[in-house]
Amino acid sequence: MVAIKYEKFKPNSRIAVLTGAGISAESGIPTFRGEGGLWRNFSFEELATPAAFQKDPVLVWEWYNMRRDICGQSEPNPGHEAIAELESIFSEFHLFTQNVDNLHARAGSKKITELHGNIFIGRCLGCNKLTPLPISNKISNKNSIQNLNENEGPPICDGCSNMLRPHILWFGESYDTQMLDQAAEFLSKSDIIFVIGTSGNVSVPVQLANLAINNGAYSIEINPEPSSLSKRVDISIRAKSGEALPEILKKIKSSI
Ligand code: OAD
Repeated sequence: MVAIKYEKFKPNSRIAVLTGAGISAESGIPTFRGEGGLWRNFSFEELATPAAFQKDPVLVWEWYNMRRDICGQSEPNPGHEAIAELESIFSEFHLFTQNVDNLHARAGSKKITELHGNIFIGRCLGCNKLTPLPISNKISNKNSIQNLNENEGPPICDGCSNMLRPHILWFGESYDTQMLDQAAEFLSKSDIIFVIGTSGNVSVPVQLANLAINNGAYSIEINPEPSSLSKRVDISIRAKSGEALPEILKKIKSSI
């Protein structure tokens, strides 16, 4: 098996990390594709598009309430924790996640770009104001709106009384261009990129990873299964991220 070249890690290396649903699998959050994946059991056309929300906002909110509860009741795993610690070692570090579950932040990561939004935030359809949503309907949160309960449907903006939608990038929607420009700027100059727990089915995150790879970044994938990026990376670690990352972190620490 090819080993990671730990000599590539220097204290001033610029480190990029791209994560997908697989990093949270060991926390008990379902991935999207593969066995038990959300898109195998639910139709994204009915739940995760602007048209679906227009047609049936109550159904869409119920689905996000269910998912938010799962996320809120899950805990970060050793993979999330290792990434947070990696950030504390390198001054030039950034985490790009496709996940909306907030587990990276809860593990202590600070330099994060949430490419697909955050399930704990609602966004007003009228004024775009962002509103924190309860961590779970079983856990109270003083700073969040009170009128969101299971089956109650869309919460209402306290600023302009319009309906809130989940602050999540839906199918058919465009990424924020400023966010993408900043991501491209960081990734194109990265020395090392980790690609963790993503199938590589969504083109923009794949393009971002490829930007780093094409510009010469040393690329390490961690995924028990091959992904669309496996052939592009320098090394694929076929393991669960919660098991592989703490070991990799230990070796990085002892080599720099
Ligand atoms: P996928 O469900 O497509 O892929 C999850 C990946 O995680 C697969 O390649 C698995 O092999 C891998 N995996 C499973 N368990 C793992 C573990 N313990 N450690 C490491 N890897 C593991 O999820 P994403 O690639 O994140 O978008 O999907 C990308 C986007 O598609 C999501 O952000 C979502 C979805 O539609 C939006 O909702 C906007």
